[in-house]
Amino acid sequence: MLKDLKWEYDTDYNFYIVDTIPSTNTYLKENSDNYPNRSVLIALRQTNGRGRYDRVWKSDNDIIFSILLKTNGFYQITAPLAVCYGLIDLGFDVSIKWPNDIYLNNKKLVGILIEDIFSDHFISSVVGIGINMTDKPSFHAVGLNTNISKYLIIDKILKRFDEFNKKDFDYLMELYKSKSMILGKTVYFHDAEYIADAIDNQGYLILKNDKEEKKISWDEINIKESLK
Ligand code: BTN
Repeated sequence: MLKDLKWEYDTDYNFYIVDTIPSTNTYLKENSDNYPNRSVLIALRQTNGRGRYDRVWKSDNDIIFSILLKTNGFYQITAPLAVCYGLIDLGFDVSIKWPNDIYLNNKKLVGILIEDIFSDHFISSVVGIGINMTDKPSFHAVGLNTNISKYLIIDKILKRFDEFNKKDFDYLMELYKSKSMILGKTVYFHDAEYIADAIDNQGYLILKNDKEEKKISWDEINIKESLK
């Protein structure tokens, strides 16, 4: 069902392409034994695309791909950084919305779903990335609206991913903070209003309001369409 894809850029990832699949993340999770480390599966369409918190991920002519990794890494940080900087390299003014969405003009552009696979000997990870190419007003989402090749966009992201996966945690956290769009802004967590005060050295987000301080790990927070 999957076809090998010859990559026109210089890289040592293993590329596969499929026309239609339920979900690239699900496929790589279920078939990880049959594919090497650094396999990248690109789909033209997904019929059961999955988001965080069991949400549905709808895509139509968008960029859909998942990366299988059989080594450990700080992928929760390096994946959003790689997408953010890969897109900046191509001229897009994007930033990171906690924990790992990429936003353009205060709207969601990219969703990332990272899942671990536990086997006898090691933990593998699947990093799934969905990038909107067109606006999706019903989801308050924005698209790249560009003629730049999807493959070049993926290549730029993978090059940045390799670069960041060689860096230490402190370096990555500083870079992550510099691209975070929420720090110092009003955010909502379980319907209460807070200021996103800081990201600490361990990578927790510190939320503050008059009544309390909260420390959250990878939980999602909400923002209004234009940040205060
Ligand atoms: C989110 O924002 O909740 C994460 C969305 C992740 C979507 C991507 S598309 C490629 C990969 N395959 C999936 O089924 N999901 C991820």
